Amino acid sequence: MRTVKTIAEMRAARRNMEGSVGFVPTMGYLHEGHLALVRKAREENDIVIVSIFVNPTQFAPGEDFNVYPRNSEHDMELLRNESADLVLIPSGEEVYPPECATWVDVEGVTERLEGASRPGFFRGVATVVTKLFNIVRPHRAYFGRKDAQQLVTIRKMVADLNMDLEIVPVATVRERDGLALSSRNVYLDPEERRSAPVLWNSLQLAKEHSSAGEKDAEKIRREMAELISADPRAEIDYVSIADADTLEELNLIDRPALVSLAVRIGGTRLIDNITLCVEKSPGT
Ligand code: PAJ
Repeated sequence: MRTVKTIAEMRAARRNMEGSVGFVPTMGYLHEGHLALVRKAREENDIVIVSIFVNPTQFAPGEDFNVYPRNSEHDMELLRNESADLVLIPSGEEVYPPECATWVDVEGVTERLEGASRPGFFRGVATVVTKLFNIVRPHRAYFGRKDAQQLVTIRKMVADLNMDLEIVPVATVRERDGLALSSRNVYLDPEERRSAPVLWNSLQLAKEHSSAGEKDAEKIRREMAELISADPRAEIDYVSIADADTLEELNLIDRPALVSLAVRIGGTRLIDNITLCVEKSPGT
């Protein structure tokens, strides 16, 4: 496995690669969720490239950029075990030189949910992912469903800007109690960790109601909120049931719906989601 730290070196390595290139962008501190993406990329491509870059532009002032967990030695070991071919670890200075003045803004789908709670977040994500795509030039890129709005945003960006690659979604990897794996889970103290599955439990509640035929989105949002609020450590940021493609809030669940939520457990903001696969009603 080769480690590459500059854009010039990456471009030179890329020129010598033959066959299909699968790419997994990450911010490091890798866990089984990230590794599921790497494994899928390994199955589907001749060459697998992983990037590790804690992207400063997707963190707002006051967010956790400076303390975001990092452990590149361990990340390397995990990636070697997955037979990744190349790890790109660019520097902040090279990705964002002072003269850099171009941003990628995806309108509409980024304005709600995470975008409403974290202004500038998706601009930072879309910009860095565009840069990484231009640097790596992959045939396929792998994104987790854990970050559902990010996946929708990247797909929209790729379609709108005619980017020539395939975006491949990968299912969310969870702990045994349902908590979605996340690099930020290390911030949870033991008591908070015990509260954290409340996100998954509320998603399961939504699924049960929907499977039983409930179509009233507000009723399900209310039930989810009640379940979460019963935990004194949990503070809701949002609970949403939205059209899975446009992310517009639904009144009636009459089409594939993304149930997503952000909840603060102590000082840690966690997100999770599931998709309800409801048949589109005729005429909608
Ligand atoms: P990061 O949070 O490191 O996640 C990298 C990729 O791993 C994303 O596609 C994310 O959805 C996926 N992932 C994280 N946890 C997962 C889980 N439990 N199951 C499945 N996939 C999971 O997302 C980012 O980094 C950044 O925004 C990035 C796209 C790299 C741009 O900076």
